[in-house]
Parts: sequence; C-alpha cells; structure tokens
Amino acid sequence: MQEQSPGEHSVCSQDDIPEVRRTLSLISDPGDWWRSAVIYQVYIRSFCDGNGDGLGDIAGIRSRLSYLCELGVDALWINPWYPSPMADAGYDVTDYRDVEPRFGTLDEAEALLGEAHALGLRVILDIVPNHTSDQHPWFRAAVAAGHGSPERERYVFRPGRGEDGSEPPNGWRSVFGGTAWHRITESDGSLGEWYLHLFAREQPDLNWEHPDVRADFEHSLRFWFDRGVDGFRIDVANSLIKQSGLPDVEWPQASVEFDQEFARAPWQAHPHWDRDEVHEIYRDWRRIADSYADPRVFVAEAWVDEPARLARYIRPDELHTAFNFTYLRSPWLADHLQNTVAETLAEHSAVGAPPTWVLSNHDVARHVSRYARPQKKPGRSLMDLLGQPADLEVGRRRARAAVLLTLGLPGGAYIYQGEELGLAEVEDLPEGALRDPTWERSGQTDRGRDGCRVPIPWSGTDPPYGFSPDGSKAAPWLPQPADWAGLTAEAQTGDPLSMLELYREALRIRRADSSLGDGDLAWLDLPEGALGFQRGADFVCLVNVSADPIDLPDAAVVLLSSTELTADGRLPADASVWCSV
Ligand code: GLC
Repeated sequence: MQEQSPGEHSVCSQDDIPEVRRTLSLISDPGDWWRSAVIYQVYIRSFCDGNGDGLGDIAGIRSRLSYLCELGVDALWINPWYPSPMADAGYDVTDYRDVEPRFGTLDEAEALLGEAHALGLRVILDIVPNHTSDQHPWFRAAVAAGHGSPERERYVFRPGRGEDGSEPPNGWRSVFGGTAWHRITESDGSLGEWYLHLFAREQPDLNWEHPDVRADFEHSLRFWFDRGVDGFRIDVANSLIKQSGLPDVEWPQASVEFDQEFARAPWQAHPHWDRDEVHEIYRDWRRIADSYADPRVFVAEAWVDEPARLARYIRPDELHTAFNFTYLRSPWLADHLQNTVAETLAEHSAVGAPPTWVLSNHDVARHVSRYARPQKKPGRSLMDLLGQPADLEVGRRRARAAVLLTLGLPGGAYIYQGEELGLAEVEDLPEGALRDPTWERSGQTDRGRDGCRVPIPWSGTDPPYGFSPDGSKAAPWLPQPADWAGLTAEAQTGDPLSMLELYREALRIRRADSSLGDGDLAWLDLPEGALGFQRGADFVCLVNVSADPIDLPDAAVVLLSSTELTADGRLPADASVWCSV
C-alpha cells in the first residue's frame, strides 16, 4: 500500500481501482447495489485525524479513501458528523443539516461525497431521530417557554409524581443507567417538569406524535439526499414511538437489566421498544428515498432479538435493510450460528429483503475479544467479558474464520473499522480517559464502549500510529495501546498471513464471484460442530467450530482459508475455508 500522510487529500484515481471493481460496477444494477453491499463503518472520531487535533475528521476520511478502495468495500457508513456538544460522541445533535466544526465543513462533506462516488464508493450517513441534544434550539426554546407551551410538545415533558412532583413521572430506565427522566429548573428558578431521555440526560427524547418533528426529519433526509448521500443508518429505529399514557414496564421479569435491554426474545409488548406504530414513519421515509432517480436506502439499527420482529422493519414498503444483531450476539458455537443464519434467512426472504451480517460496531466489545472468551453465553459488552479468561490468539483465529462465514452468506455485510486489522477491545483504558456517558451514569461501575472506539493504527511503531499527522500537538482522544505496532495497516500490508490481507482477498473473491452477495444458500450435511453451505453451482464455505479437523468436499479447490489446512488437507478447528467444487 502506498502510504500517504493523513493531511494529504489525495485519493486513488480510476486507474487504481482494481479491474474487477470497475468491471462489476459497469454491469451491476445500481438500483440494487445495497442487496449485496459490503459497507465499512467509519467511526469518524477514531478513523483518521487530518488536522492534528487528536480527533478524526472529514479530511482524515478523504485521505484514506484509497485504502477503502483497495480494501474492496462498496460503501462507507459514517457515524454522526453533525454539530454536537458530544455528550454521547455525536449522537446528541444540535443541527441535523450541518457539520460539526471539529469534523470539518459542509463543503468538505460535499467534496468527500464527490470523491467517494468517483471511486465507486457509496456513502451512508447516520440519522438520530429518537432524541436531539439538550442544546438543540428546539429544546432550549422548550425549556425557556415554560409549562404547557407548544415548544414543550415537541419533547416528552411531564409533571413529577408525589406531592411536590419530586418523583420521576414513571419508572422507565435510561439505557446508560439510572432513571430515564430529568427534572428541569424553570426560568423563574423553581423546580419544574421532567423530560424523558432514554439515553443520556443530554439527549431529550422527541415526541414523534408531533407534526413538526416528522416534517423536520423529512427535511433533513432530503437535505442530504439532495447533496448525493446514498442512504441513512437510522439510530435506535425501534424507539421513536412511546405508548400513550407512558405506562410503567410490565414485563414479567421486569428488572433494571431488562428495562435497559434493547433486545429481548421472545418478543413481548413494551411501552417504548419496538412499538408497532413506528412502522408508519418508515413508510413515509421510504417514499422519500424512492422519489430519487437513483433511489436512496436505509438500514435500521433496531435491537430486536427476534428475526421475525426485525423483518417487520424491512417489509417492501419500509426500510431496505436492518442490522442483524442476533448474528452479532451469537456465540462461536456451530448450532447457534447455523440456527441464527437459518432463521434470519427465512424471516428475511418472507419479506423479500436481503439480510445483513455484522460482527462488531462502536457499541459492542470487539469480536476478537468476545471470541477469546468461553463461548457458552452470548455477550456483547465489555462488562459481559471482564472476569472471564481470555485467549486473544484463539479470538483472532475465530475472527478470521468468522469473516469468511460472514462474507460468504447471502446478502450484505458490515465491517467495523479496525476489525480488518484484527484489533481487540482495549480493556484497560485508564479510568480518567473514559468518555462514554455510561461510565458516569452507572456510578463508574460500567466502563462502557470506549474500548472499541480507540483511534485505529495506520503506520509507524508508536502512538499515534499515523492516526494524526506527524508532529501533531494533540494526542488521540483516547489513548492507544503501546503494542499496536504490528497491527498497523502498513505493517500488515503485503503479509499474506495478516488479517488485513485476508479481508482484502476475501473481498476480491466476493466481487469476482457472482454467486456471492445477494441470493440463497444450500446447507451441507456436515459432522457435528461444523457448518457449511453451497452458493451457486460451485462455491462452498465450510466453518469448523468443533475441536477436530474436518474433510473438505471431494475434488475441492481451495480459494481461501482462514488458517493453514492440516498436513493431510483437512480444515482444522476454529477455521473456515472457501472452495470451489
Ligand atoms: C445507538 C448508537 C449509540 C448511541 C445511542 C443513542 O445505539 O449506536 O452509539 O449511544 O444510539 O443515540
């Protein structure tokens, strides 16, 4: 790979695009690109810092487009880049139609879109409709305008319970810990109403029954679509509608843990997660997306742990795709994996939508670290992992096997920045460095999500590993481990045994083989502890989750394997292979 200094905004030219990519982009139906797309998640704060302030930015993304092009992904999903006080890393937005100055300018955003498109890369943004920042002009106006004002109706204000209103209006819990209500001080200095915040206190929930709210988000969608944005990831898409009357949660086993959970199976009605009325909003949004000549697309972030409930978000007149968190949560156990895949495929095909497969994102512990633990019980957060013995070598080996499974399955896939480098969760960030609001809201008991958000290493042997330009004054916003020199993109490039080259080769094969991506699979009958399937006339993926090696099909030609085969040509434990039969 040619190293560029992060400040340089050179991107790869048409000549640098691999031949197969150019050929495919000429023949594939542009309207259907999302059915097979591999989308790279750019967690902007931690991807690449172009201006040397220790925080990733748009200049940094522009300087690394050639890397993404060479990696072989189809699109980028960029986490929120809107103006924000950053109480929740940009998921607290003050203006949905502008760019946070620390990340760049609207002009730079438009330049990025143009450059990405010229390279055949689509760009998806993140929209945050459940809540705004408490510094959003609407919320400031609501606080100032007082009890009973029309301004307050755009949010969820209620009087407190008890004689003096000092008890929260109901028992709902914030996802980040503690009550989901905060009491304001009115402009005359008296203690006033409470407002709902399912996340941090700085993230007041919007009232989606209010026409202004619906109209304003439709305006924002068009604003970005008109500038060429190809789609949106919808933040907590399953939380917008609250049951009228805001009743307390009545799950049989209601508890703090359950109230805070996004996901739950079997599904039961809940006053604010996954309510049926939310779908009407997405039908309206779909009409907007379809009104563009090159239709725009949506992906739902909806933590509903039952494939049948998830499929409701991707019915033909709703969203295009949804993150498949059941797959992300599955332990590295053959029966779990196969059941999850089979159930997902059945529920998605019933509504005609392609599944997506995802192993990590900015909210969960990196999968190398999850797979490094005993696999009895699914867990997704760092707190689920701490205290369990870890073997990172095993975790990386399984992660290599998992990506061949992921990219071999029908539909689309997401790659979270740094997973292609094999990064593990940073579990020992100093307490003083933690920035996730979960840390404070949990009374400093839950270390939160910072461990998967550490700025990624590009080059060199010491922090900031090329994340910031040479000679930058500011350190990366989260400290990087001292032992990442071997994990930089530079160090892995050209090493056929590296995680990065495994991803590059898998993506190259996926592009070249038309039986991969959207479509169907046929399961193979394999020994216990292994799973495998055929796609098209001759592509086979085998995954060995058992302790013993398994045979490859007769006359199989190996295309790519996650680990070297045994001396007698069998697939060892915790390994996957792609072959042609
Ligand atoms: C989503 C985001 C997460 C954020 C939360 C509140 O789950 O992925 O990072 O904290 O929504 O906006």
